[in-house]
Amino acid sequence: MHMLTPGPVALADPIRLAQSKEMIYHRGPEIKTLIEGIVVAMKKDFNADHVFLVTGSGTAGLEMGWACLTKPTDKALVLTNGTFGDKLAACAKIYCANTQVEKQPLGKGWSHERAKAAIDSSGAQVFGMVYNETSTGVLNDARAICKYAKSKGMVTILDAVSAWASAPLDIKDFGVDFTATASQKAIGAAPGIAIVACTDEALKRAEGIPARTFYLDMKKFKKEMDTFQTPTTPAVSVLYSMKAAIDYINEQGGFDAHRAKHAAAAVKSRKFVESVGFAVYAEPGFYSPSITGFLMEDADGFRKRLREKYNLVTARDFGDLKGKFFRICHLGNFDDAHLDYAFAAIRKELGK
Ligand SMILES: Cc1ncc(COP(=O)(O)O)c(C=O)c1O
Repeated sequence: MHMLTPGPVALADPIRLAQSKEMIYHRGPEIKTLIEGIVVAMKKDFNADHVFLVTGSGTAGLEMGWACLTKPTDKALVLTNGTFGDKLAACAKIYCANTQVEKQPLGKGWSHERAKAAIDSSGAQVFGMVYNETSTGVLNDARAICKYAKSKGMVTILDAVSAWASAPLDIKDFGVDFTATASQKAIGAAPGIAIVACTDEALKRAEGIPARTFYLDMKKFKKEMDTFQTPTTPAVSVLYSMKAAIDYINEQGGFDAHRAKHAAAAVKSRKFVESVGFAVYAEPGFYSPSITGFLMEDADGFRKRLREKYNLVTARDFGDLKGKFFRICHLGNFDDAHLDYAFAAIRKELGK
């Protein structure tokens, strides 16, 4: 099976095999070594004061932010330009009834200029946006926008689920207080763990607000993760795969090289899309390093044929793009040979 998916992604052999290791007790010394190996590498790459490993998918990590950093009386401002921005807004509304949602048309990116008026006028205390909108392949200018929202006194929550480790993300440089990604995305491990990165400032805020969650309480995570443990039983096999994924990335040159691999694949994918007669959907200047999408007729039928004839698994489309959008996903453990196989199959099926 060839996976051309935006997560779960195909696992490289050492990562896949790491999951079959014997269990370890989640309060023993071995787990502390395992978690420490993961957290130290991630803290460094995010430039974060704290990294929490939350058993659950990426959404659990994002929900932790809304549940712990907001008060019911807070106003939130959420920018969206796709399915995952809409989901972030839906989550925000559960915790802040007064949530203002601002939209860009699908395919268009959020820039500082486009976000400024809403940030200036909203009066919101909390700000949220998606960095890499996986549903359309648009990379928003999270750095300029979060920096600006933070300079206006807002707490910034960034969905970096499909962005971290494929796009640059230094949370202090970006003005991000809280962000989350997931084990099955660019790091290239198995699904099951959300990775939360935050600043001291975010943690202080959480300490002054009653958490509106039991499972996802940042204060409990802080207490346990200080000694490289988790408040509840973690997905141990996923932790093994995450450590193996970090080792694998390091063997191949480290996180910067991993990001460069994604950037090069994005260029190659855009060229490919144009070479078979389609237009890249994302607005120029907002190209995603991990997803290259284009509009096509009968995308469902095309995906079905790729699966049946070439054993190539591709991702479905969503919402207003349902049935008419195709995504080439270059996320995680892929290499050039992997992309070349997919491109040859797509080209052949298109007859081009
Ligand atoms: C940008 C973005 N946000 C949130 C999510 C949700 O992540 P999960 O399915 O791990 O909860 C995804 C998943 O694809 C995503 O791409």
